[in-house]
Amino acid sequence: MVNLETFIEVLDFERHARDALTQMAYDYYASGANDQVTLAENRAAFERLRLLPRMLVDVSRLETTTTVLGQPLSVPFMIAPTAFQRMAHPDGEVATSRAARAQNVAMVVSTIASATLEEVAGGGATPRWFQLYVYKDRGITRSLVERAEAAGYSALVLTVDTPKFGRRYADVRNHFHLPPGLTVANLTGAGMERLSAVKGESGLAAYSASLFDPSLTWDDVEWLRSSTRLPVLVKGVLRPDDALRALDRGVSALVVSNHGGRQLDGVPASITALPGIVAAVEGRCDILLDGGIRRGTDILKALALGARAVLVGRPILWGLAAGGQAGVERVLHILREELELAMMLAGCPTVRHIKRDLVDDTPA
Ligand code: FNR
Ligand code: LAC
Repeated sequence: MVNLETFIEVLDFERHARDALTQMAYDYYASGANDQVTLAENRAAFERLRLLPRMLVDVSRLETTTTVLGQPLSVPFMIAPTAFQRMAHPDGEVATSRAARAQNVAMVVSTIASATLEEVAGGGATPRWFQLYVYKDRGITRSLVERAEAAGYSALVLTVDTPKFGRRYADVRNHFHLPPGLTVANLTGAGMERLSAVKGESGLAAYSASLFDPSLTWDDVEWLRSSTRLPVLVKGVLRPDDALRALDRGVSALVVSNHGGRQLDGVPASITALPGIVAAVEGRCDILLDGGIRRGTDILKALALGARAVLVGRPILWGLAAGGQAGVERVLHILREELELAMMLAGCPTVRHIKRDLVDDTPA
């Protein structure tokens, strides 16, 4: 049995997962595309940023609450959508959803989860949002949207950086596929639940190449908006002009993201792309960010640079690998405590006190 008390920081979970998971599962979760330059940059860019704390501010009463799309959050971070969580723990996404409920953290659930969106809803995460991959057969997307609405999801997150999946060499070498018993659970009704080994290719890359729609354009954002009463976010924007296009199409919020360095290698860290997008958007919608969040100070920096909240990807998978629901809870707890400490030391008693001048602009 793993003693979760010995996990002091988020990176302890990653070190543990390396040994605890099969090579195929660990590599799938950990990898970035190609040379993994962007993957490394997501961390390096946070490490380069310097904070300028304010002294002698009364921080005796700390308040981490905020709202996104008007939905209340107890902390300005959420669980990012990541696929196939049952490779990390038999309870997979359901355990994550229970941990989210227990820690009062919002969760985004992947289209290609290894549990159905109804099962994940049963775990109790609130707010819960549903992430969409658009299949060539639009009827599939419509039915996923209807199911998400019926199961109490309160926003749709359209991922826009994946006309195809990036090339992750380890997955190709490992002939990545789903272990026996695991499926793309939401697609069972459509007969698209199997993800098998393919020669010379990642099984996931082959799955998406045959089923996902690479013809998606900004017009489809409007199509999606017209097919649902839920707010629509787009995830994966890295350019100010794309952010403006998204605004023109009436999205409710944006996620600045490079998909955890897993898509086009060589793009900037999402935290590097954030300020330009914040400047272009001029407060007209909420902006979220993901990629490389591992510390409370990373969350503080992202909020200072204009993110309303951040999403956390891989650490959740490492938490699942360490102890299912309890492991994810511990990861969320560590992030909350580190954020609270960072806010105190920076002189920010509430998230509204976290402003642009907290990050130093002087070149290093
Ligand atoms: C992802 N991500 C992702 N995004 C999405 O929109 N749908 C998905 O199904 C998945 N699946 C997925 C699986 C795995 C194993 C990883 C690592 C990532 C991307 C994810 O939502 C997020 O953008 C990044 O993970 C954020 O970076 P960090 O926190 O992992 O550094
Ligand atoms: C990935 C997909 C599932 O990055 O988003 O593997």
